Amino acid sequence: MQGAPRGRFITFEGIDGAGKSTQIDAVARTLQARGLAIVRTREPGGTILGEALRAAMLGQAMDALTETLLMFAARREHLVQVIEPALAQARWVLCDRFTDASYAYQGAGRGIPVEQLDALANWVHRNVKPDLTVLVDIDPLQAQMRRQGARATDRFETESLEFFERVRAAYLARAAADGARFLVIDGSAPASSVTSIIIQRLAQWLP
Ligand code: TYD
Repeated sequence: MQGAPRGRFITFEGIDGAGKSTQIDAVARTLQARGLAIVRTREPGGTILGEALRAAMLGQAMDALTETLLMFAARREHLVQVIEPALAQARWVLCDRFTDASYAYQGAGRGIPVEQLDALANWVHRNVKPDLTVLVDIDPLQAQMRRQGARATDRFETESLEFFERVRAAYLARAAADGARFLVIDGSAPASSVTSIIIQRLAQWLP
């Protein structure tokens, strides 16, 4: 017998400029057209407190550990207020970044030790883990060219190419270590073919 339908938790990751927002928009439209109840959200952010923390983190320089703690504080609020209730109501949650971003940016980017991130993740997550993480992978130089002129840049987007090389490598390493959860896609491919690959992967869960 089939169990009750349940929501799915899908996260989207990649360096700044990879094109993940375009993909989330397209996937959300496709799933909604199939009649699924979607919650589209983002990190840092997704709650009133989380958005205030986001503005602080994106706007002003701070110590790397302070930044890490604020990311996880915002995440905790997001899980409790938005993600867990949505999944309990069998909604699909499409989340623009989640904990993998903390390992990539605060860990590989800023040098926060993995053990500290593991401890925070265990503490903050309880049992929630993405069903699927879409990693839109792209060369940092190409991403930088895409970012130029797109919109106002924040504190992360002005980091060096070396910083984004480290972030990218960390994402790819996490994907290699957890192949069942990750779908890695070449972000330099046309946006519509990237979307098709994601939808194909989600098809297994569609009603
Ligand atoms: P981003 O999704 O890039 O927002 P936008 O598309 O509006 O620019 O997210 C903002 C930044 O937050 C991004 O540069 C990466 C950073 N970030 C971390 O450093 N650690 C985290 O855990 C998360 C969730 C985001």
